[in-house]
Amino acid sequence: MKVLISYFSRTGYTERLARSVAGELESRGHSLDWEVIRPAVRYSCFRELVRDWPRYPSIGLSLVSSSWRRRHVDTYHQVEEDIQSLAHPDVSGFDLVCIGGPKWAQLAYPVARYCATVQGIRGKRVGSFVTFGGPPLKTFEIEIYERSMERVLERIGAEYAGNVGVSSAYHEAGLLPLFRIVSLLVFRRPVTDFTLGSEYARKRIRKFCDDLVGGGV
Ligand SMILES: Cc1cc2nc3c(=O)[nH]c(=O)nc-3n(C[C@H](O)[C@H](O)[C@H](O)COP(=O)(O)O)c2cc1C
Repeated sequence: MKVLISYFSRTGYTERLARSVAGELESRGHSLDWEVIRPAVRYSCFRELVRDWPRYPSIGLSLVSSSWRRRHVDTYHQVEEDIQSLAHPDVSGFDLVCIGGPKWAQLAYPVARYCATVQGIRGKRVGSFVTFGGPPLKTFEIEIYERSMERVLERIGAEYAGNVGVSSAYHEAGLLPLFRIVSLLVFRRPVTDFTLGSEYARKRIRKFCDDLVGGGV
């Protein structure tokens, strides 16, 4: 298969995940091309955080109520951000597209703009990959991201083919101490047990590629 890996990475963690996914796909005999999504302007992390603050109370409620969560994912306004011109503005020549980025409450804004901009994606199978600062909390990290991505892809007519999420154990705004405590409380394991290079990440990446392209050539 001809696969396009498109990713945005502000501090390098999602780029490392993109390379791991690429390695796994290449080892199964697929050919790869790259799209590095670059924001038109690099804002400070606090400015990026502030842009989504109006949605944080709704995200908070989503964690305690599944009906609110459904409503939230169906109705929230996804923030977007201008991006630089694309190397592959039309992806119709690819069999599969993998789109990756960091979790920024939901989709990272440059990733959201990419999805809204890219041509030829209607009917295309799309896998998504994400890194987040915390441990893989079922609702806050995994479900909210997956469902948001699914909704965005549905709106642009692409076929959602699966998601892989791995922790970076890093947050530019200094939230790692909080994530460390949450990881010990919820999983009784350090958050580093869920980062790239861990058994957790290896298994998830393998399963993601199995879902996308099957076992091998
Ligand atoms: C604006 C912003 C929002 C973020 N929101 C979350 C979040 O909701 N959950 C989380 O675990 N980490 C969050 N993070 C941390 C990043 O997801 C994490 O550090 C990620 O691995 C960075 O990937 P990158 O190095 O590819 O940019 C946020 C970071 C930024 C800058």
